[in-house]
Amino acid sequence: MGGYPASRPRRLRRSEALRSLARETSSSGAKLILPLFVVPGAGVKQEISSLPGVFHLSVDMLVKEAAAAHDQGVKGVILFGIPESKDPVGSGAYSEDGIAQRAFRALRESVPGLLRVADVCLCEYTDHGHCGVIEETARGGTPGGPQVANDPTLDLLGRAAVSLARAGADLVAPSDMMDGRVGAIRTALDAAGYPQVPILSYAAKYASVFYGPFREAAGSAPRAGDRRGYQMDPANAREAMREISLDIEEGADIVMVKPAMPYLDIIRMARDRFDHPIAAFQVSGEYAMILAAAQRGMIARDRAIAESLTSIRRAGADIILTYFAREASRLS
Ligand code: PBG
Ligand code: ZN
Repeated sequence: MGGYPASRPRRLRRSEALRSLARETSSSGAKLILPLFVVPGAGVKQEISSLPGVFHLSVDMLVKEAAAAHDQGVKGVILFGIPESKDPVGSGAYSEDGIAQRAFRALRESVPGLLRVADVCLCEYTDHGHCGVIEETARGGTPGGPQVANDPTLDLLGRAAVSLARAGADLVAPSDMMDGRVGAIRTALDAAGYPQVPILSYAAKYASVFYGPFREAAGSAPRAGDRRGYQMDPANAREAMREISLDIEEGADIVMVKPAMPYLDIIRMARDRFDHPIAAFQVSGEYAMILAAAQRGMIARDRAIAESLTSIRRAGADIILTYFAREASRLS
C-alpha cells in the first residue's frame, strides 16, 4: 500500500453535511455587539464617510436602528456619543443630560430586551481629544506631546460610569487605558448603588492605526501628540497578560482585546490563561479594509465578513464587538 495514506483529512470535506459534522467553530454562536454613534438633534441619519454603512444617528433614529438590529438577532449595542460641545475635562461624558445618557434612557424605554453597553472614555468629549485630562506641567508640550494625568482622570471616569449606569447602561466598558480605572469605576459604581452593573474592560487595548476611521467618525483624534503614552505598544504580548490580570484583580467581569484580527494571538493567549469571558473588538479600520477591498472587487464581501468573524471566534473570543453585527446575524 506504499504511497496511499490511511489518514485522509479530505474524507470529512467531501460535502457540506460532512464538513458541518467536523466543524469546530461556529460564528453563529458568537454574541455580537453593534457599535452605534449618537449625535444631537432629531431625524438625523447621516452616513459616516470613513465608515460606509455606519451612521451618525440622533436619539430618535438610534432607537429605530437598535430595534431593527435586535430583531435581526444582535444581542447588544455599544454607544459612542458625539456631544454638542467639548471642553478640557470632557464634561459631556458625565453630564446627566449628556448625549449618551439621553440615548440610554430612550433605549431602556423603547428596546428593553437589547443589552446596552456604555463606552466609558473622555476622548469624544475633550477639546484636546485625549482620553483623560492633560497634566498641568505638560501643557504646552513635553517632548512626546501632552501627557495625560492618570489619577485625576480616574475620578472623572468613575463619574461617567455612574451617570451612564443611572441612565440605563447594563454594562460599562472603560476604553481609556488609565492605570487603576477598573478599580476606581468599581468603587464608584458600588458607592452609588450600582454594585450589580458589570465592567467589560478594554483590558488589552493597543495604540493602533486601525482606529483611524472611528476617530474621524467621533471627531476624537488627539489635537497634539498621540495615544502611545497610555495605550499598549503593538509589539507586546506578555504585557497584555499583565494588563488583563490587573483588570481582573480590580474587578473586571469581562476582558477585551482590541483590535481583533491583528491581535488573534493575544486573544488566544488570554483564552488559554484566564477563565473570564473574553471579548474582542473588530475595529473601524478592520471593517473599512474589508469593505474597501470588496468594493473594488478584490474579495467577496459576505465571505470575508464570515471568515473574519470565524477567525476571531476560533482564536477564543466569546463576544465580538463589530460593525458587521447586523450582517453577521443575517449570514449565520
Ligand atoms: C475611545 C475608543 C476608541 C475606539 C473605541 N473606543 C478609539 C481610540 O482609542 O482612539 C476604537 C473603535 C474603532 O476603531 O472602531 N477610547
Ligand atoms: Zn478614549
